[in-house]
Amino acid sequence: MTTPSRPVALITGGASGLGLACAERWASQGGAVVLADRDADQLRVAVAALGADRARGVACDVTDAASVDAAVASVRATEARLDSVINSAGIARPEPSERITDAAFSALLDIHVTGTMRVCRAAYPALRETRGSIVTVASVAAFAGMPGRAAYTAAKAAVTGLTRTLAVEWAASGVRVNAIAPGYVRTALTDRLIARGELDPSTILARTPQGRFAEPAEIAAAVQFLAGPDASFVTGHTLLADGGLTVGGDWY
Ligand SMILES: NC(=O)c1ccc[n+]([C@@H]2O[C@H](COP(=O)([O-])OP(=O)(O)OC[C@H]3O[C@@H](n4cnc5c(N)ncnc54)[C@H](O)[C@@H]3O)[C@@H](O)[C@H]2O)c1
Repeated sequence: MTTPSRPVALITGGASGLGLACAERWASQGGAVVLADRDADQLRVAVAALGADRARGVACDVTDAASVDAAVASVRATEARLDSVINSAGIARPEPSERITDAAFSALLDIHVTGTMRVCRAAYPALRETRGSIVTVASVAAFAGMPGRAAYTAAKAAVTGLTRTLAVEWAASGVRVNAIAPGYVRTALTDRLIARGELDPSTILARTPQGRFAEPAEIAAAVQFLAGPDASFVTGHTLLADGGLTVGGDWY
């Protein structure tokens, strides 16, 4: 699907939402993308939308180390280079803290934190060869207390810590690691929360100084900056793209 001269990005959760928007952005700059997602049907739709000349899908569950290792191995075998990894696989499952089970809490951390770690660890040898980059996906939830979101906020805060440590550990080999922390974006994830009554869009709009949800493409633009050469001296950073949500002083 690709010639080795094109920069290649591996995007987890690339079949939907922010991951898919990042794929569109990367491909629009002349790159090739490998979408790694556990949803095989959605993967087919995404690859068809992007075009098989610049996108390929690989079935991958970030909670399974063998599956992650196989996805990275397939990039090495097929595209023969890896320039960036974007870790967008994720879910949200709000639950009151007094009721959440160990299994449910651990499952969310496994996807967001250990999943991101598995992907970064597997991709590092290939990224070292290209002096490539990693973008992890945190959230405004890394910076706020949010009722019913103990696992999600803990996971996203952990992603920022993981990002800082990988950045300093891998800086000498030329691999940069940064995080994007989006505010609210209408995607399948937020649509599901809204449909279940677990997220009130009017509250989000009222609390966001820019007064709207982000478009997935706006987050993808910030990710592309972090992933690409314009951010050559940026590493270990968490970039908020939240329409002013976290600096809003409307409580005052
Ligand atoms: N949408 C928002 O408002 C928002 C805000 C901040 C952060 N985020 C984060 O952005 C990331 C992407 O979210 P989105 O809104 O695009 O959601 P989405 O549901 O549209 O896309 C998430 C994708 O991840 C995939 N996925 C889930 N678990 C997986 C696993 N174990 N292995 C492989 N793939 C898996 C899904 O199949 C899906 O294609 C998530 O980490 C989410 O927490 C989203």
